[in-house]
Amino acid sequence: SKDLVIGLAGLGTVGSGLVQLLKNNAAEIEQRTGKKIFVKYVAVRNIDVKREIPKEAQLINDPLLMAEDPEVQVIVELIGGTTLAGTLIKKALENGKSVVTANKALLAEKGEELFALAEEKNLFLAYEASVAGAIPVVQTIKDSLAGNKIETIFGILNGTSNYILSEMSSHGTEFDEALKMAQKLGFAEADPTLDIDGFDAAHKLKLLIRLAWGVHYPYEKLSVQGIRNISAMDIAFARSLGYSIKLLGQAGRTHDEIEAAVSPVLIPSSAMLARVDGAFNAIHINGNAVGSLFLHGLGAGSLPTASAVLGDIMSLMKDIYDSTGYVMQKLPLASMAKPEDSV
Ligand code: HSE
Repeated sequence: SKDLVIGLAGLGTVGSGLVQLLKNNAAEIEQRTGKKIFVKYVAVRNIDVKREIPKEAQLINDPLLMAEDPEVQVIVELIGGTTLAGTLIKKALENGKSVVTANKALLAEKGEELFALAEEKNLFLAYEASVAGAIPVVQTIKDSLAGNKIETIFGILNGTSNYILSEMSSHGTEFDEALKMAQKLGFAEADPTLDIDGFDAAHKLKLLIRLAWGVHYPYEKLSVQGIRNISAMDIAFARSLGYSIKLLGQAGRTHDEIEAAVSPVLIPSSAMLARVDGAFNAIHINGNAVGSLFLHGLGAGSLPTASAVLGDIMSLMKDIYDSTGYVMQKLPLASMAKPEDSV
């Protein structure tokens, strides 16, 4: 059929966001690509729980089954973690299926083998959603800025810790309370220590370094410090001196070395990064041609992250895109009222 047949593994925050988007934006998907997305399988840990899934989909417990089905063209891996997810992606690639994933931990810690396998098989391993949620930073660095020598990349790469710091700063919320709120809102990782101890930001920074400089910077070698020990008093002192405290991932190329670290940083309150609040992420990229670029958007959450996943899936359908990114339609055009009409 003309449909793209996918298998979806995982129905957590991002997976259920994707299911919602597939339904609500079905018309746009078809209009842009000329195809429909057919979800053949949805794999979840517990199939006895009642869930909202696409009507065509079959609920299964073992995600590896979909990697064995010759009809499935793309595996969407949203289960997270570095064990089963890794096995699934490997199996999918071995069996000739492209993969879309939001799994920064897996790609940062064990990605080299998977990237090499994808390359060897000439398949896509797409991961826009794994870095900074909705912000299209992967494609920006990989494609749009490909003609630059990238000099530095730095930014707020973890929505949960930024949300916590913002809440502590603006409402005097206690750290633990703010973390609970972030978990409730669906920003935090299943294991929130990844967020607050800086490891999630480090996963993303590792991927950004790979994109910017084509370098494998071992994740374990990154210097990482989180926000666990930052108190409301630290934030208040910083503010009285005209600074905000933000958890930043930073990487730069100096001579022939890449320097990188994740740590809390004092930022002048007037800087754009200081004004990035809540679950937003923001990234500065400096390149020798583009100058300074600033990307800002939601770095966590169900629909924003699903937006990046769906974009990746649709990019795999783009053999039939025309150069404007649309299959052109004949739409009725309404003209805006002229000023003289609206007396
Ligand atoms: N836990 C992550 C965050 C989710 O808070 O940024 C998005 O990667």
